[in-house]
Amino acid sequence: MLGGERIEGKVRVDAAKNAVLPILAAAILPDEDVTILDCPDISDVHAMAGILKKLGCHAIWENGRLTLKNGRLHNWEMPDELSKQIRSSIFLLGPILGKLRRATVTYPGGCEIGLRPIDLHLKGLRALGVKIVDEGGVLYCDGRDMHPGDVYLDYPSVGATENVMMAAALLPGDTVIHNAAREPEIEDLQRFMNAMGGSVQGAGTQVIRVRGVKKMHGISYAPIPDRIVAGTLLCAAAITGGRVQLANIRSEDLVAVQAKLTEMGCRMAREGEYLFLEAPKTLQACSLVQTQPHPGFPTDMQAQMMAVGCVARGTTVIVENVFENRFGHAADLNRMGANIRVAGRTAVVQGVEEMYGAHVSARDLRGGAALVLAALRARGETLIERIEYIDRGYAHLERTLCALGARIERINQVTEDDHVSAAAP
Ligand code: EPZ
Repeated sequence: MLGGERIEGKVRVDAAKNAVLPILAAAILPDEDVTILDCPDISDVHAMAGILKKLGCHAIWENGRLTLKNGRLHNWEMPDELSKQIRSSIFLLGPILGKLRRATVTYPGGCEIGLRPIDLHLKGLRALGVKIVDEGGVLYCDGRDMHPGDVYLDYPSVGATENVMMAAALLPGDTVIHNAAREPEIEDLQRFMNAMGGSVQGAGTQVIRVRGVKKMHGISYAPIPDRIVAGTLLCAAAITGGRVQLANIRSEDLVAVQAKLTEMGCRMAREGEYLFLEAPKTLQACSLVQTQPHPGFPTDMQAQMMAVGCVARGTTVIVENVFENRFGHAADLNRMGANIRVAGRTAVVQGVEEMYGAHVSARDLRGGAALVLAALRARGETLIERIEYIDRGYAHLERTLCALGARIERINQVTEDDHVSAAAP
C-alpha cells in the first residue's frame, strides 16, 4: 500500500457479516430452500457454507445471492476441522438441536481477541433441557427432552442470545431470554425468523420472547447492511482528510460511531439514500472511547478508531470493555510511528503529526482493518501480511478503497477456487 491519497467517492455497503452468519444458521430451520440476497463474498460466509454443506444443506452462490437447498439436513455432527474455522460455527448448535434434537460439536474458532468461551451458550441451552456432555472438547448434546423456559444470560452475549432464539424456534411453548443482547443483528435475526413463519418478539430490548411454531417455511431475505464495514469506510475518509458517501446504510446503526467522528471534527449528514462524511484538514482527538454492548460504542470499531486517533491532535483514551485481548493492532501501529501505550484494557493514544509505511501483520479481522487505515495515511509504502484475517469480514477491501482513490495492490490473489475450497466438503 502507498499512503497519502484522500479517500473520496461513493460506495454501496453489502449485507452485514454478523447478520448473515446467524441467519445462515437459522436458515436450516425450515425444510424449504432459503436465499440470502446481497450476501457478502467474505471467507467467513464461505466457511459457514462449507459447514452447512457437511450437514447436508447444499449452498449455491449465484449473482451475489446464496441459496441453501435445505431438504436433506440429516447430519447433526459438526466435525472439528470445520467447527474451529470460525466463531460462528457455534451458532449452528441451537438450530441443529431445534430441528434434529441432537448435536455433536467441538469448540469454535475465531479471531484471537480473547478466550471466546461458550459457557453462556451452553447454560442457555441447558436451561431448555438440553443434556450436554463435554468429552475431551467434543460436546455431545441430547435435546430429546427439550422444553421451553426462562433463560437468564449473565452477560448480554450476541451469540448466546442468537443460539437460544434459534433453539427455541420450533419448541412448543414460550421461551423468554432475559438480559439479551440488543445488537441490530439480533433484530435482523428476529425479522428473518418471523419472515420464515417463526414467532419472536422483543429483539433490540433486553427481553426476547420466542413462541415455538410447528413448522417454518423457506424465503428470500435481504439482511441489514454492515454497520462495521460502513464505519470502517467512514474512518478511511476521516484519516485521509477525504469525503465519502455511503449507500445502503441505516443511520440508526451508526449513532455511536457518528458521534465520535463528529467530535473529531468530521462533518456528517444524511443525503437521501447516502450517509455523507467530510473530514477536516486536522482531526481533533475525541478524548475517550469506551466499547460497550449495543447501543454503546461497538467493540468491532475500536481498532479502526484507534487508527484514526493516531493522527488526531490530542490524546484519545480507549477502554476495551468487551474483549480481554483486543489491542493486538497497537504494536504494529506504533511501528508505523504512532504513539500508543497499553495497560490492560486501556490504551492511551497520543496523536502524531505523521505516520510512515512499515512491514506489519494483521492478527485479527478488525485489527487488520486498522492497519489498512493507517497505511492509507502513512507516508511511503506499507506491506501488510496475514490479510486473510481481513478477508474474513471485508469483501475485496482493496478494490473498494482503490475505487475511492487508494493505491493498494493485493500480492496473493484470492481466487474463486480458494473460496470453493473453503466451501468444499
Ligand atoms: C459477536 O461475537 C460478533 N461476531 C463479534 O464480531 C462481536 O465483536 C461480538 O458479537 C460483540 O459484539 C459475530 O456475530 C459472528 P459475545 P460473539 O458473545 O457472539 C464473552 C467481528 O469482528 N462471552 O457478545 O462471540 C466473550 O468472551 C466479530 O465481526 C462469554 O464469556 O460475542 C466476550 O468477552 C469479532 N461466554 C463477551 O462475552 C459466552 O458464552 C462478548 O461476546 C459468550 C461470550
